[in-house]
Amino acid sequence: MCGIVGYIGKDEIKNILVDGLRELEYRGYDSAGIAVLEKDNIQSFKAIGKLKNLEEKTSNYASKGFGLGIGHTRWATHGKPTELNAHPHLGEFSYVVHNGIIENYQELKKELQAEGVTFLSQTDTEVIVHLFEKFYKELNDPFAAFEKTVETLEGAYAVLLITKADPEKIYFAKNGSPMIVGNDAKGDIYFGSSDAAMLGKATEVIYLADGDYGYTSMEGISLYHDRKTKALSKRPLVGDKVSAQKNGFRFFMEKEIYEQSEVLSDTIMGRVLDNEIKFDELDTNFFDGINDIKICACGTSYNSGLACSYLFERQAKIKTSIEIASEFRYKEPLMSKDTLFVVISQSGETADTLEALKMAKAAGLKTMAICNVDNSSIVRLSDYTLLTRAGIEKGVASTKAFATQVMTMWMLSLYMAQHRNTMSQEEIKAEIDAIRHIPTTVMVEDNLHEKIKRLSKRYLHGHGFFFIGRDLFFPLALEGALKLKEISYLHAEGYPAGEMKHGPIALADSELFTIALMPKNIHYDKIKSNVEELSARDATILAISPLEFDLADDFIKTKHAEHPMSEFFEMMVITQILALEISVRLGNDVDMPRNLAKSVTVE
Ligand code: M6R
Repeated sequence: MCGIVGYIGKDEIKNILVDGLRELEYRGYDSAGIAVLEKDNIQSFKAIGKLKNLEEKTSNYASKGFGLGIGHTRWATHGKPTELNAHPHLGEFSYVVHNGIIENYQELKKELQAEGVTFLSQTDTEVIVHLFEKFYKELNDPFAAFEKTVETLEGAYAVLLITKADPEKIYFAKNGSPMIVGNDAKGDIYFGSSDAAMLGKATEVIYLADGDYGYTSMEGISLYHDRKTKALSKRPLVGDKVSAQKNGFRFFMEKEIYEQSEVLSDTIMGRVLDNEIKFDELDTNFFDGINDIKICACGTSYNSGLACSYLFERQAKIKTSIEIASEFRYKEPLMSKDTLFVVISQSGETADTLEALKMAKAAGLKTMAICNVDNSSIVRLSDYTLLTRAGIEKGVASTKAFATQVMTMWMLSLYMAQHRNTMSQEEIKAEIDAIRHIPTTVMVEDNLHEKIKRLSKRYLHGHGFFFIGRDLFFPLALEGALKLKEISYLHAEGYPAGEMKHGPIALADSELFTIALMPKNIHYDKIKSNVEELSARDATILAISPLEFDLADDFIKTKHAEHPMSEFFEMMVITQILALEISVRLGNDVDMPRNLAKSVTVE
């Protein structure tokens, strides 16, 4: 989704802006642009497609001495991905970049057009710069004009604005879309819509809150909220840029699959003791008044939540339901205060999940976030947070985020079971032993990867894939299918295996590929008969199981694990690598698949 960067200082501005945008590339975008202001001269460059196109366009340009600049990667919402629609948007003497959606832009645009303003783009963003210039002409005060502009906007926004009317400042505002401002030891100022863009540059940062606005110059940051000055609450920016690179792997997604062992160790660190699960984040009265759980999420995060809803009911004996956030928002849901509302999100910025969370909060529910990004909007809004500790995930197709979400909620399930006395000490101990083994389970062995790579060439055509599984392995089937379709662009569906005969089996023939998840520890005989039914209709079967299965066309043998979750994590890795290798053979952009964004901050 869109990314924003900004800089004030004496270093070469274009390089700083483009470097920052490169760190945000993984979020997905279809055009990019920058504007640089030196004294009273503004230079702006835009290009559709990848950042390298922008770099080519700017190759003969470099700033000299003090100046400031703003940059943007755009993922089209209002208007096609064209150069005219790319940010920054210009007025007569100012430029703006914006993430989010201005909901009242149509009425504002009509008013401005009636006053003679000409619009160049189809975007909602362009109203911001024209409004600012109109108010500046009326008030003759850039800050007052910016404040009035912000007060006129409705919707979600993170905005940076530069203007020849005040050439040493960047104006900023945040409401509903993330924005961070920071500085380095020299006092140079940096902006980013995510701290990934600022790592290695800013040393301390402020995570702006909704309703914050202000301006920055070399004199510092002036922050306002509701027309009053607001104290700056700076935090050190910690993080390592190198860790965000590919470390020799072909793709970020591949690196992230291989990293799962390490990050899962981080996820469980300090939380899994010899005989109990412990979360320092939860206080002792956490469960007071809670009778059931509602989980709400999107995409992969929904799939992890669905898997863990089985665990919550089975282990902690707590009634659990799950909803897709975009549906939940508009179904006029009934909510009661004895429900714990759990939202799951890798990015912590997904608009639908964030709005569902706001609804639950407004209804007075206790809320909890399972999230990978500390200080994200979802984390800041939730009453409780369990961080998944996956580290920066750059591949648009989520892998290690899913693994760590499942692990975090598996531990949460046991934590609740301890509290509710629904499992014996021996049972908890057995789960703890299984958890401790998972970082080893997910290590990718060379011969496994090689086998999947070879197999992948047989699965590049056909009229679709069915990933099937039962129980916990149904959500894993959903996730396997989502991974494959995201990066291969092949049609894939996840189904509960027992549901095939209720309709989908009509599609079965030799060109229908079935990826059958056949664990030995959960309903093996049941899934076996479902797969036999498909085989009888000549479907091509790739079985993943520890038990030999004669009817399979292809077979990936898993280990004889004694715990279903060990089988779950082992099969998860296999489906991830299968999707990766099919995508590679098809020549697709594995890390930045078409039409997708990493962080979906619009509904
Ligand atoms: O950041 P979130 O977990 O809230 O994102 C939710 C989905 O947009 C995300 O999981 C999406 O489905 C991924 N591309 C899956 O690989």
